[in-house]
Amino acid sequence: MTTANKLRVGVLVSGRGSNLQAIIDAGESGKLDAAVVLVVSDVADAYALERARTHGIPPRFVDPKAHTSRETFDGALISVLTEHQVELICLAGYMRILTPAFINHFHHRIMNIHPALLPSFPGLHVQGKGLQHGVKFSGCTVHFADERVDTGPIIIQAVVPVFDDDTEQTLAARILKYEHQIYPRAIQLYAEGRLEVKGRRVFCLGNEADRAVREGWGYIHP
Ligand code: GRF
Repeated sequence: MTTANKLRVGVLVSGRGSNLQAIIDAGESGKLDAAVVLVVSDVADAYALERARTHGIPPRFVDPKAHTSRETFDGALISVLTEHQVELICLAGYMRILTPAFINHFHHRIMNIHPALLPSFPGLHVQGKGLQHGVKFSGCTVHFADERVDTGPIIIQAVVPVFDDDTEQTLAARILKYEHQIYPRAIQLYAEGRLEVKGRRVFCLGNEADRAVREGWGYIHP
């Protein structure tokens, strides 16, 4: 597949961009029928913009201070994404809540990654909250974005154990490794046209053959 035929992905970021890097790397290694064609940040000095530059991907800073409302700010985002013919939007550490107009404009074409097993622990600082709650497993979730925070239909999740001597940092690092695996995978499933959304559920077409392997498996820890 040539670059011209690939799904055009735009990534929205606010910070360090390790998930962005994982998506870029997967694309460059030929594992994805998708390519990052644009990186947009609401933070001028986000390291993620530097990562984009290094890989020859246009980095764009859209300044929230130049806008008087969330609606006009999101309107500017829609313009830049449309200008670059973005087909799928990936939120990767993007720290703003999107307006309903933005979500509707790109209905079921916006994915987000969250460092917990949704619907448990939406929001911020979730690894610490999981530890305080005493969970034995945590993980990460890629989901389609809807009008609320971390609530949209779940596409893919990965589970990691939580150990007695974990800190917020060690747990976050264990989860992050899996974030870097499941986000490119979710994008590839989308690019292959295999994700079917029915209400809250996302079905992965062509996965029926895995059923025999999956049946009878479960996780008990410790
Ligand atoms: C990740 O943990 C992601 O799940 C959350 O924000 C963090 C972003 O990290 N939404 P990075 O910028 O991708 O390194």
